[in-house]
Amino acid sequence: MALSRSQRCTKKMSQWCSRLELWGLGTVGLLGLCYLLSRDEWLGLSAAASPEPSPSAAAGLPAPSAEPPAPCTPNASVHNISGFATLPGHVQDFLRYKHCRAFAPLLDVPGKCGGPARSPGIFLLLAIKSSPENYVRRETIRKTWGQERWVAGVRVRRLFLCGVAPGGAEAPKLNRLLQLEQREHGDILQWDFRDTFFNLTLKQVLFHTWLEENCPGVHFVFNGDDDVFVNTDNVVRFALSAEDGHLFVGHLITNVGPIRSKGSKYYVPPQVMASERYPPYCGGGGMVMSGFTARTIYRESRDIELFPIDDVYLGMCLEKAGLAPASHSGIRTTGIYVPSRAEPFDPCYYRELLLVHRFAPYEMALMWQAIREPGLRCGRMVGIYPST
Ligand SMILES: *[C@@H]1O[C@H](CO)[C@@H](O)[C@H](O)[C@H]1NC(C)=O
Ligand SMILES: *[C@@H]1O[C@H](CO)[C@@H](O)[C@H](O)[C@H]1NC(C)=O
Ligand SMILES: *[C@@H]1O[C@H](CO)[C@@H](O)[C@H](O)[C@H]1NC(C)=O
Repeated sequence: MALSRSQRCTKKMSQWCSRLELWGLGTVGLLGLCYLLSRDEWLGLSAAASPEPSPSAAAGLPAPSAEPPAPCTPNASVHNISGFATLPGHVQDFLRYKHCRAFAPLLDVPGKCGGPARSPGIFLLLAIKSSPENYVRRETIRKTWGQERWVAGVRVRRLFLCGVAPGGAEAPKLNRLLQLEQREHGDILQWDFRDTFFNLTLKQVLFHTWLEENCPGVHFVFNGDDDVFVNTDNVVRFALSAEDGHLFVGHLITNVGPIRSKGSKYYVPPQVMASERYPPYCGGGGMVMSGFTARTIYRESRDIELFPIDDVYLGMCLEKAGLAPASHSGIRTTGIYVPSRAEPFDPCYYRELLLVHRFAPYEMALMWQAIREPGLRCGRMVGIYPST
């Protein structure tokens, strides 16, 4: 009787397309867009493209948890927390919603690893946290270090992890953009929650749940932000040499605790965490973990309340499991030190590294090209200097 969600959606799109024609706006580009928006119907690809998995899309998937989760209701008791009214809005929001962990997938790629049974065929999964508006970063990563390819005889796959743009007016546009990207690249996991800084832990936990269901056999996961430059070949080489079992490496941070100054992006008031101590953790810009450790984090996370800072939360999961995060000198989430008279963009400084933080898209493109230049000659002066 009722139209399915994807049918409704398609109907809306064709109305939208014919209106465009009426308005005489049917330029080649716009027609192309309409074509892209409706093409999936013809190709029977609506599974990958519909904003929510439709029943027909779910058929053929192993045991789909079909029922979308009930919308999460805010915790009314938070007003009883002392000083609640004086907390910044996003902290209040976190406390109101931190018990909510079940969010419907809007875009999914259940076959990314070839299904659970064949997932041991995937060596490295690049899981990149990206906000919907970071389109240019995603496009650049796809063309550079995030290419899906064989490296040193093993397979690399890529996924972007997204929520929904928190800004009301832009959200529908950006959701449509993600649908288009999904159609073209099939590399987006999107869930129906507000993509904000204090929801990054939620994103992380949802990713581990996805991994458990869809890619349990993956050997290694790179987990990081979309503004880092990753030398994927080096990550693969490093992972190939790692031992079985636990691995969790990055920029190790120890002996720190919550920042209590209200102006900080990382401000965590005692109402969120009373303790003055964080467990050892790796800075969230980028880290490499084994499949074993990713699964351990998944199990531990089910009993650990969400904490707004995602990398610290991973440290909590590891600590509970009795596992330690470790430092890797090739992972520079605070940048690298280059002697003042040297060319700061010298690819020789980057060729030996695994990851460097804060690269603009054009820099990613340049560096990706430069480190792969067959003629690149690097002298012995190229040492790796300890950062901070
Ligand atoms: C807040 O605390 C008061 C007193 O402890 C209690 O009576 C009330 O039920 C609480 N409110 C909520 C919404 O939990
Ligand atoms: C709601 O908030 C109160 C006060 O912080 C807390 O004690 C309670 O456990 C919360 N309830 C849920 C479902 O998280
Ligand atoms: C996290 O996402 C949920 C669901 O969209 C939203 O209700 C909540 O306000 C978000 N939390 C923060 C801190 O932005």
